Amino acid sequence: MIKVAVFASGKGSNALQIIRHFKGSNTVKIALIVSSKKDAGVLEIANDNNIPSIILDKTAFVSTNEYVDLLQKEGINFIVLAGFLWKVPSSLIKAYPQKIINIHPALLPNYGGKGMYGHFVHEAVIAAKEKQSGITIHYVDELYDHGATIFQAFCDISETETPDTLAEKIHLLEHAYFPGVIEKVLSGD
Ligand code: GRF
Repeated sequence: MIKVAVFASGKGSNALQIIRHFKGSNTVKIALIVSSKKDAGVLEIANDNNIPSIILDKTAFVSTNEYVDLLQKEGINFIVLAGFLWKVPSSLIKAYPQKIINIHPALLPNYGGKGMYGHFVHEAVIAAKEKQSGITIHYVDELYDHGATIFQAFCDISETETPDTLAEKIHLLEHAYFPGVIEKVLSGD
């Protein structure tokens, strides 16, 4: 059984799709939800789905091995970032080489990096008069939104697009593709 930890800082709509996708799987278990915010919606989703969750202490996360040890003690084999806003410390990346993936709500390498999340991304894409945006699922390395791309999906940007309407299109792409891409990565495809 591959045990997966999902890291999230927000609503957790992606985490919910992932939980639903693997419910009943006999090869993949969403074993832990890890949040950087004590009031994140994802914690309620964890609770509703009887999945253990932890809330990270930022100092310990950044400067100790406490969470690496915890994840390894829990037998976590793979980490999925689904709206996790902190940079992953290199100690965690070293402990999980090519075993941490992230979803970004734009077409990397453009519109990525520190501070490029949520509506900031969509505002920048629209301001640049891009004709399309989309999602990028990629491996996580020491830099924000920088690791090798695994998958991208695209959507058009209309003349009257707003950050909210684009966010909606992007969320639909995320929910449609992220769980299946995770499954393919975990199956070694
Ligand atoms: C998603 O847009 C994802 O691309 C980004 O953070 C957002 C998370 O949304 N990394 P949710 O918390 O899964 O609803």
